[in-house]
Amino acid sequence: MAKNSAAVRGWPLMVLLLIVLFTAIIFFIKAAYDSCNAHGYVQTESFNRLKPIPSMRFQENPLAFMKFKLVLLVSHELSLSGGPLLLMELAFLLSGVGTEVVWLTNQKPVEPDEVIYSLEHKMLEKGVKVFPAKGQEAIDTALKADMIILNTAVAGKWLDAVLKEDVSRVLPKVLWWIHEMRGHYFKLEYVKHLPFVAGAMIDSHTTADYWKNRTQERLGIKMPDTYVVHLGNSNDLMEVAEDTVARRVLHEHVRESLGVRKEDLVFAIINSVSRGKGQDLFLRSFYESLQIIQEKKLQVPSLHAVVVGSDMNAQTKFETELRNFVVEKRIHDRVHFVNKTLNVSPYLASIDVLVQNSQARGECFGRITIEAMAFQLPVLGTAAGGTMEIVLNGTTGWLHPAGKEGVTALAENIIKLSTDVNMRLRMGKKGYERVKEIFLEHHMSHRISDVLKDVLRKAKNNA
Ligand SMILES: *[C@@H]1O[C@H](CO)[C@@H](O)[C@H](O)[C@H]1NC(C)=O
Ligand SMILES: *[C@@H]1O[C@H](CO)[C@@H](O)[C@H](O)[C@H]1NC(C)=O
Ligand SMILES: *[C@@H]1O[C@H](CO)[C@@H](O)[C@H](O)[C@H]1NC(C)=O
Repeated sequence: MAKNSAAVRGWPLMVLLLIVLFTAIIFFIKAAYDSCNAHGYVQTESFNRLKPIPSMRFQENPLAFMKFKLVLLVSHELSLSGGPLLLMELAFLLSGVGTEVVWLTNQKPVEPDEVIYSLEHKMLEKGVKVFPAKGQEAIDTALKADMIILNTAVAGKWLDAVLKEDVSRVLPKVLWWIHEMRGHYFKLEYVKHLPFVAGAMIDSHTTADYWKNRTQERLGIKMPDTYVVHLGNSNDLMEVAEDTVARRVLHEHVRESLGVRKEDLVFAIINSVSRGKGQDLFLRSFYESLQIIQEKKLQVPSLHAVVVGSDMNAQTKFETELRNFVVEKRIHDRVHFVNKTLNVSPYLASIDVLVQNSQARGECFGRITIEAMAFQLPVLGTAAGGTMEIVLNGTTGWLHPAGKEGVTALAENIIKLSTDVNMRLRMGKKGYERVKEIFLEHHMSHRISDVLKDVLRKAKNNA
């Protein structure tokens, strides 16, 4: 039948697709933290939230003015986590328009590391120069550069350690990109130079507010001009998301491998497994929703939960807790654990709803959220952090409170989407439209280009 022939034709395509996916792996950023997206404008005392982006001329790369400029990127580390991968993405966007890009990694392990080796290799291939973080070459480059971008608060340690008495000379051309919202980053050791740099670029309004508040209250320092820059989906991800054949092939393949039937409903949480990401509370909500269905005798398809981001080596105690819960509640045939992966497209193509359950202050941005929306998935997210700037409650998904008080609310939202196919499809579609409107790579480039222009201007005035 139609389905069979599709499956047969799908095989060579599948192989091709996997190759494409694996070469593009770097761009599928999932991570311990996600970043916040921006709207290219300076955040002052009051800023209008979610200001629309002016319509764009597609033929013109908004970063084209960076051609021949020298930009030094300083990463606190080089790994497959969100922060470094984002900076690499920026490195490639810049080298793509002819910027001379130099990369430094401040903290490197002493012993050779496979991940670092392959990422550095990837950068060299794309024309990014990789220098040692310390030494004369680093200092000379910093003094000569048109702009220096420090990535994450921790990268602040590099300034004094390497530049020493030259620090004040470079501060007027430093842009500080911040992707974190946790207390231990508010240390003078890291951020004492923050007030004197040209600008801070932060991934969401919530995170920017938090930084403004904490630097003032905890450290007594003032934030520099702050730009909120929401992220965008890579072109590679969008290509898969918009390819209906690819999506169908991945959909069938992944469901089959998980033992999920075509008619079943799949809710997935895609984050590295840790308490902060709320997998435990999600599973409790999921269990509660199964109980409600049973009690009320609701007519719904079989529900499944998928937890993508397992790492038994790293989070054994918490993981064990999750797995025990599943066994104890006898829902182990409904809950599927998948190892951590950078390549999330196959999972996004095969699920029905994304759950974003980050706790406390939530995600700084939460890139998986816009990636899921690209695949036309509704999102059930915590009303915290960047998620609130991405998900429109009641339009592209539903928000529930973080913490234990959110468990029942999430369970009810799971029921809502399970019992109403039209709502699910409508919300997925609205999410996709929202991505097309403000969360694409060219939107991000446009937002970043406004910031870079400002920083160049300030650096020049202060030279
Ligand atoms: C910072 O946050 C605290 C607690 O949320 C609040 O009480 C305080 O007014 C805030 N301060 C500023 C300067 O916004
Ligand atoms: C998942 O990770 C665990 C531990 O790291 C490993 O033993 C297992 O083989 C992995 N599973 C798959 C399907 O790769
Ligand atoms: C989302 O909308 C629902 C229904 O209107 C409402 O009950 C809920 O409080 C809203 N949540 C947030 C965080 O705005």
